[in-house]
Amino acid sequence: MSKIQIDKFKCIRCGQCILACPSRVYTRNSPLDSTSVVSGGVERCISCNHCIAICPVNAISVNGLDSSDCDLFLAGIYPRLEHIMTLVQMRRSIRNYSDVPVERSQVEQLLNAMRWAPTAKNRLPVKWLVINGREKVVELGGLVIDWFRRLKGVEEMIAAWEEGRDPIFRGAPCVVAAYTTADATWAAVDCSIAMQTLDYCATAMRLGTCWAGYFIHAAQKDKEINNWLGLERNEEIHAALMIGNTGGEFYQKIPPRPELKIKWIT
Ligand SMILES: Cc1cc2nc3c(=O)[nH]c(=O)nc-3n(C[C@H](O)[C@H](O)[C@H](O)COP(=O)(O)O)c2cc1C
Repeated sequence: MSKIQIDKFKCIRCGQCILACPSRVYTRNSPLDSTSVVSGGVERCISCNHCIAICPVNAISVNGLDSSDCDLFLAGIYPRLEHIMTLVQMRRSIRNYSDVPVERSQVEQLLNAMRWAPTAKNRLPVKWLVINGREKVVELGGLVIDWFRRLKGVEEMIAAWEEGRDPIFRGAPCVVAAYTTADATWAAVDCSIAMQTLDYCATAMRLGTCWAGYFIHAAQKDKEINNWLGLERNEEIHAALMIGNTGGEFYQKIPPRPELKIKWIT
């Protein structure tokens, strides 16, 4: 059976699937015709499921899924720009965390939302690692510091670690990392988009976050860290975020930022 099925008796010829499909899978010869799949269309389909989400009469199925598998948006909730703007402006890099752990269910809720983060060609290459619990995060921070010991110019960070501070994960009780296999195209972009989306969701859940750039850098270079994380040789971390309950930093104002440099071409 073909991956894409169209029920011609249900199709109302609205053409929505033709408009929505990014891969030009659907066609019809005239507005009176029901939709059909173009030759080579099945092979081109990227399984984004836009067609089954947009079809108003459940006439299409892809990979055995149809409109009945698509949840409705929450009725009456269309986020206002002011709300999104507030989220964008209130998200801050938090570098002090309380001892309150991040619940597994909170991380699961965050990661579940990432199923809808966009990826190039809908290839969905992003895989996730969760290091949850302060003890494990400290162990990982120690490995990053061990790797730093082989470098120059990071003596201050090593000294801070030895004094009992945590310049790598800032005392966070949870770190979430996004990785892909080496053959993934757009790997860093896909992982970063997903992680930044997760960052905003975490902010909306009143969790503090901060990108973990030192860790990402070390993980991309050091085999020991990757072994500890259980990654395969061909897998690479591209994005990572500390997550925790804010421990002392409570912003009431937005830090000023310079005007953007924008070139308009009109
Ligand atoms: C890719 C990336 C890596 C970062 N790595 C770190 C890090 O390792 N440690 C840290 O304290 N902050 C890190 N940051 C946070 C930035 O310093 C922070 O985003 C910037 O100062 C602006 O502050 P804001 O996030 O509160 O707007 C990183 C940010 C990005 C985008």
